Amino acid sequence: MNTAQLREKLEFYRDLGVDELYVRRAISSPASDVHVPQGNVNQGAALPSASAALPSLAPEGDTLLKIQQDIGDDCRRCRLCEGRSKIVFGSGNEQSGLVFVGEGPGADEDAQGFPFVGRAGQLLTQMIENTASKEGIPIRRPDVYICNVVKCRPPENRTPQPDEMEICGQFLFRQLMAIRPKAICAMGSTAAKALLGTKEGVTRLRGKWHKWRDLPVMVTYHPSYLLRPYNQDAKREAWEDLKKVLHFVYD
Ligand code: URA
Repeated sequence: MNTAQLREKLEFYRDLGVDELYVRRAISSPASDVHVPQGNVNQGAALPSASAALPSLAPEGDTLLKIQQDIGDDCRRCRLCEGRSKIVFGSGNEQSGLVFVGEGPGADEDAQGFPFVGRAGQLLTQMIENTASKEGIPIRRPDVYICNVVKCRPPENRTPQPDEMEICGQFLFRQLMAIRPKAICAMGSTAAKALLGTKEGVTRLRGKWHKWRDLPVMVTYHPSYLLRPYNQDAKREAWEDLKKVLHFVYD
């Protein structure tokens, strides 16, 4: 990445509402992180080396409200704005120890503006509440936080494209950094890919702990997948995954 491209990238993050970035120096000096205040982007700041990895997005004092305001009421940063009705930011307890991450809003979510309110959402609610109750963990769905990788409904519910995930993923990352839950549950391959940067399928990733930054991530099946007939084994496995997460967070 040359300096002009890097500058463009930094401006891109500033447009997303990210005021400060921490970038790691090239591998030769692993101990030193470089703080790049975004205010310097237009002032010819000393930019990090071309091999520096972007980003570690954690604006001081970031809140869900600020993130939602940065997204705005009529976000046009990617093509998903063209077909959406409502931006679906997320819902639940902002101080929750547990965040569930899905793929993107479907038709019901797009109409109502809240995540997981359709059929897959009903299943997710049942899974959370029944498992918690069976395991003697006193939580209900409103006690956790639920959001998606992309905040606008992809047309025909198609899988979000890499650029859409990159753009909207920055807001997801800020949500996660603002909440700093004890664990994240990534539901389905899009959430797993966004958080773990892997192309590995859910079948191989599920049931084990991974990390996003320093936060533990459990990967499991997406509830929509579990709604399909003949997925009994996957359902059983998803329940096992959820049990693990709930005990990890609430024991
Ligand atoms: N599927 C998702 O991934 N997210 C929702 O909010 C609803 C369905």
